[in-house]
Amino acid sequence: MLSGEPLHPADSDYGVFVGALAAEGLPTDDLTEPGRIFVRVRLDDRPIGYGGYEVFGEDALLRSLVVLPGLRGRGLGRQVTEAVLREAAGAGARRAWLLTTTAAPFFERLGFVGIARADAPESIRSTRQAASLCPSSAALMTRSLAPKA
Ligand SMILES: CC(C)(COP(=O)(O)OP(=O)(O)OC[C@H]1O[C@@H](n2cnc3c(N)ncnc32)[C@H](O)[C@@H]1OP(=O)(O)O)[C@@H](O)C(=O)NCCC(=O)NCCS
Repeated sequence: MLSGEPLHPADSDYGVFVGALAAEGLPTDDLTEPGRIFVRVRLDDRPIGYGGYEVFGEDALLRSLVVLPGLRGRGLGRQVTEAVLREAAGAGARRAWLLTTTAAPFFERLGFVGIARADAPESIRSTRQAASLCPSSAALMTRSLAPKA
C-alpha cells in the first residue's frame, strides 16, 4: 500500500533525500527554511520517493520531487506526485504550481499545464524557487487540486 508521511531533517533517510535532489541538480539550499513541508512516500514498508510543498493559502508550490534512482520508469513517479499533492490538498491548497527544467512532459501527463510566470499569483512568483533558485528558463506549470465535479 502507498502512503505519505512527514519527512524531517532528523530522520535517518533525510540524507538520502537531500543526496537524491543534489544528484539531479535540484535546489537544496533552502530545505530547512520555514514553510517547507516534506513527505516520504512508501510503498508498503519501503521508501520509494520524496517530495515537498509550500502552501500560500489556496496555492501550493510542489517541489523537490524525486523517485529513488533505481526505481524510476515504472510508474512510481505518478504515484509519488499524487501522494504529495494529496498532502498539499489536505493542508488547504486548491491549486498546485511547480517549476521544472527537465520534467515538463512527465507533469503534463499528470494534468499540469504550462503558464506564463506573469500569470501566477505573487505568492508563487516570489518563492525562492521561482525568484532565485530555479533558472528563468524553468517552465512554470499549474493544476487544480479541487475534487472533480
Ligand atoms: C521525474 C521523476 C519523478 C519521474 O518518476 P518516474 O518514476 O521515473 O516516473 P513514471 O515511471 O511514473 O513516469 C511516468 C511517465 O512519464 C515519463 N517520464 C518520466 N520522467 C520524465 C521526464 N523527466 N521527462 C519526460 N517524461 C518523463 C515516463 O517515461 C513515463 O512515461 P510512460 O507512461 O509513457 O511510460 C523521476 O524521473 C525523478 O525522480 N527524476 C529526478 C528528479 C526530477 O527531475 N524531479 C522533477 C523536478 S521538478
